Amino acid sequence: MNILQIINAKKKGKELTKDQIDFWIKGVMSGEIEDYQTSALLMAICLVGFSEEETFNLTNAIIDSGIRVDLSEFYEKSVDKHSSGGVGDSTTFIVAPIFAALGYKCAKASGRGLGHTGGTLDKLESIPGFHINLDKDQFKEQVKNIGIAVISQSKDMCPADKKLYTLRDVTETVDNVGLIASSIMSKKLASGVKNIVLDVKCGRGAFMKDLDSAKALAAEMVKIGKKAGKNVVAVVTNMDYPLDEFVGNSLEVYGALNVLQGARNNLYEVAITLCSELLTSMGVENARAKCDEVLNSGLALEKFKEMIKAQGGDLSFLNKEHLLNAKAIYDVKAPASGYVEDIDPMAISGCVMLLGGGRLKKTDSIDLYCGVETKVHIGDHVNEGDIIATIYSKEKNEAAINKVLEAIKIGQDIPSKPQMILAIQN
Ligand code: URA
Repeated sequence: MNILQIINAKKKGKELTKDQIDFWIKGVMSGEIEDYQTSALLMAICLVGFSEEETFNLTNAIIDSGIRVDLSEFYEKSVDKHSSGGVGDSTTFIVAPIFAALGYKCAKASGRGLGHTGGTLDKLESIPGFHINLDKDQFKEQVKNIGIAVISQSKDMCPADKKLYTLRDVTETVDNVGLIASSIMSKKLASGVKNIVLDVKCGRGAFMKDLDSAKALAAEMVKIGKKAGKNVVAVVTNMDYPLDEFVGNSLEVYGALNVLQGARNNLYEVAITLCSELLTSMGVENARAKCDEVLNSGLALEKFKEMIKAQGGDLSFLNKEHLLNAKAIYDVKAPASGYVEDIDPMAISGCVMLLGGGRLKKTDSIDLYCGVETKVHIGDHVNEGDIIATIYSKEKNEAAINKVLEAIKIGQDIPSKPQMILAIQN
C-alpha cells in the first residue's frame, strides 16, 4: 500500500478501507506522508465525499494518534458539551455549573479563539489569576471534588487532528461534514467522557450556514458517538445573530454571569436546552425543571465561583465594574427610527477583531477587555438617536462604530423573533 494508491482510489470515487485510512494517518504522524499528499487527499475527499464508515474509521485513527483520558472513576456521571463555534457563545459557563450543581462531573478541555469565534480559555483568562495548567491528576481531583474543571486541550490528545486541521485551514478543505465530524468527535471521544451534548451552530455566524448541512453534521456526529458506545445528543441552534448581547472575552464572562444571576434571554434558552436534552437522554425525568431549580437557587452560580477559585481566579473580579472596565466606553446611536431588522454576527465579531479582541493567527496576542454590547434585539422599535450598542476598547475607534452600524440594520418592517432551537438529533 502507498499514499498515491490511496489518493487515486479516492479520486476515482472509491470508499477508503480502514487499513488505508490507518496507513494515511500513521504516515501523517511519522512524516512519511508529505503535507502536499495529504492536501491532495483532503481535496479529493471534499470533492468526492466521505462515507459514514470512512468518517468513523478516520475518527478512530485520529484518536489512536495520541493519548486517551481515563475518567473511569466517574464515567457514568461524566458529561461534556461541545459547540461548533459561534459569536457571543458563553454557554459553557452556564451549562458546566448546572451539571456540576446537579452532581454530574464536567471534565472540560477547551481551546482558544481563532478567527471570528471566541475561545473559552481566553474568556476565562480575563479573570486575573485564572490558570488552565492543571496536570492530569489535579484535573481529575478537581472534577471529582467540585464537579467542573476547564483546562487546555492536551497537545498529546489527537495530534493528527492538529496536523490535518492546519492543512484544511489553508487548502479550503474545512467545510466537509465527514472531516468536521471526525475532527470534533475524535477529541470528544479521546477525552474519556460518557455523556456528550453537541451544540451545532447554524447560520451566518457558524461553519454550517443552512439547516440541512447543520442537521447532517449533527446526525453524523451522533452516529459516530453512539457507535463508540457513548450517549450523545446534538442540538442545532440559531447562529444567524449573536447569541448574547455581550461579545468579547471578559464581556462574555459577564453575559454568562448575568444568566447565572437571573437573566432569562437567548443565551439562557440555548444553555438550558443543551443541559436538559442531555440529561433527558440520560434518563433524568423533569430535566428542564431540575436545571432551572439550580439556576434559580444560585447553586449553579456557586459552582461557577468554586471552579474560578479552585483554578486561582480572583472572585472579586466577577462583577460589572471589573469585567466591563475598558479605558474607553462609548455608545453607538440609531441613525434612524424604525425596527431592528438584523444584527449580523459576522459584523459584530468583525468589530471585536478590529478592536484587538480576536486572533487571525494562533500566535496573536489579544485584548481580553474589549468588545461590543448590543442594547437592542431583533424586532425592537428604536427612535433616531437611541443607544443601540456600547463599545468597550482601549481608545475610541470610529471604524468600530461604523462596523456596529453595519451590523445593526434598522428598517420599517417588523421582523419575526428568531427561533433559537432549530432541531434536536439523538
Ligand atoms: N471544530 C473542530 O474542532 N474541527 C473542525 O473541523 C471544525 C470545527
